[in-house]
Amino acid sequence: MSEDLVELGKKNAAIKAVEENIKKDMIVGIGSGSTVVYAVKRLGEINKENTLNIKCIPSSFQAYQLIIQNDLQLVSLEMYPNIDIDFDGADEVDKDLNLIKGGGGCLVQEKIIASNSKQLIIIVDFRKKSDTLGTNWKRGIPIEVIPMAYFPIMEKLKKLGGKPILRMAQSKSGPLISDNGNFIIDVNFGGLSNPSELNMKLLNIPGIVDTGLFIDITSKVYVGLEDGKVLTLTK
Ligand code: A5P
Repeated sequence: MSEDLVELGKKNAAIKAVEENIKKDMIVGIGSGSTVVYAVKRLGEINKENTLNIKCIPSSFQAYQLIIQNDLQLVSLEMYPNIDIDFDGADEVDKDLNLIKGGGGCLVQEKIIASNSKQLIIIVDFRKKSDTLGTNWKRGIPIEVIPMAYFPIMEKLKKLGGKPILRMAQSKSGPLISDNGNFIIDVNFGGLSNPSELNMKLLNIPGIVDTGLFIDITSKVYVGLEDGKVLTLTK
């Protein structure tokens, strides 16, 4: 699979998603990951060209920096708790537009931003689409946990039929630390026949802050295809 086609898919989808949905004076949630980089760049350009006066709320340290680097106005949930639109990426999108997110470790703030947004617009390339979550994204569902609880949580995840792995940091010994000071466990359950039910079970375990399963929250998905076209998916 050509790396160039993947990047082109991300870029085409991001540009279309932004151009079709952005309006003057919107409060905009900014997701995280490599695809969102293209969307924020286009947002910055459009905002400047058309004096749109958009205001952006970040979902991670990366998003915070992207907003600043693209000369966009940075605001907070405290100032604007009702977000008009949220642009974000995903690791996998199923036929019902449910998502696996958190490959980059930013799922908790992403879900807070998404759940306070009128619209969640997901931008992906052709590799991310599947019928059933867990069949395409094989690294497992990212789960953010309170550090002192990680071990018993891993045991409970095994009892639920999962294969949990504590995500390790790169260029540092020991576990990856999330933007919120927590650990991330990636737990593989294979293909998910009922992601909503599994999500509820996981959220019931004390010490789990949130999961990378985003259920019934997506408004629209833009998929950048290998032939340069962009597919739009709605429910
Ligand atoms: C960040 O933790 C994630 O939720 C990203 O949105 C997701 O991993 C998609 O990232 P890419 O756009 O880099 O594939």
